[in-house]
Amino acid sequence: MTAATGWLVAGVTLLNIVACLWLIWATSRNNPNDVAEGEIKADVWDDDLRELNNPLPRWWLNLFIITIVFAVGYMVVFPGLGHYTGVLDWSTRGEMEQQLAELTERRTRKLDALTAAPIADIATNPDARRLGQELFGSYCAGCHGANAEGARGYPNLADDDWLYGGDPEAVVASITRGRQGVMTPFLSQLSEAQVAQLIALVGDWPEGAPRGQQAEGLSVFAQRCAACHGQDGRGNQALGAPDLTDDTWLYGGDDASIRETILFGRQGKMPAHADLLSEQEIKLLAGYVLGLAP
Ligand code: HEC
Ligand code: HEC
Repeated sequence: MTAATGWLVAGVTLLNIVACLWLIWATSRNNPNDVAEGEIKADVWDDDLRELNNPLPRWWLNLFIITIVFAVGYMVVFPGLGHYTGVLDWSTRGEMEQQLAELTERRTRKLDALTAAPIADIATNPDARRLGQELFGSYCAGCHGANAEGARGYPNLADDDWLYGGDPEAVVASITRGRQGVMTPFLSQLSEAQVAQLIALVGDWPEGAPRGQQAEGLSVFAQRCAACHGQDGRGNQALGAPDLTDDTWLYGGDDASIRETILFGRQGKMPAHADLLSEQEIKLLAGYVLGLAP
């Protein structure tokens, strides 16, 4: 509201009240041309309709005066006269801000209560899981999928298979600091025959010791790969080197995908979220993710 409209609003409002007062005063005086109060006036309508010169009923007049007094009181206490904010300094915006502050406080208290519990409990608490799921939708689903099912290069977080470990501390660390998987490229370091041996071994690693044709790849594996993936091919969670003996694949377990992985390497990157999320939010997310495991 500009200053001018402020004054205009205040002026019109006050004028209305004054007009009401004037109306009472004007109608309470007896017109000198009329007959005395209580007498019948001279005019006749519709043959026999006549009018008594009666004053306004007292109760009606009182009600009118009460409304005027109320209006004046209201204008003093609440905002209504242009820019004047009223004795109470009340405003819809102020009320909204107060309600918002209360809501935020209630939320914070609830969040504090929910996240005070260990992550293992958060994983089974439906209220906490709902909040975690919302956060997951906003921050994680773009890469890991709406149901955390993952995609090529983006690990499934809803299974029991972990690159970096599935205990609460490891999951919190993955989210907070991020992860950088480094599988070095072997394009110039291995012969075509060696690559073929490795694909045969890794593509279908048997339970127990590899034998026959598959065993041919074991010596190259021990030299080139075991440092990260382990002698038995079961991986190393400290490096995020996947277990190559199971049926879970990050980049694919067909010959072509494995070949691509060996020749060109892989650099999966999980971005750090320490600057995007509070500790409480990360706890909720870790609980949500861990609660997805079958
Ligand atoms: C930009 C894509 C991207 C986003 C966003 C992202 N991640 Fe990841 N995340 C990855 C990739 C890629 C990896 C695997 C890193 C690797 O290959 O070493 C990963 C790994 C992880 C791991 C480790 C999995 C394991 O098996 O140990 C966890 C846990 C995880 N992410 C949780 C989350 C959560 C929770 C969020 C949301 C806050 C999130 N990620 C957001 C790409 C992403
Ligand atoms: C420097 C450590 C390191 C060495 C050496 C290494 N890898 Fe890896 N490898 C990794 C890491 C880490 C990943 C996961 C990459 C990612 O998360 O993006 C990986 C991924 C893979 C994958 C993909 C698995 C999947 O689930 O899709 C295959 C296959 C693989 N390595 C095979 C090999 C073979 C064969 C060798 C030896 C020639 C080898 N690696 C040597 C660290 C290593």
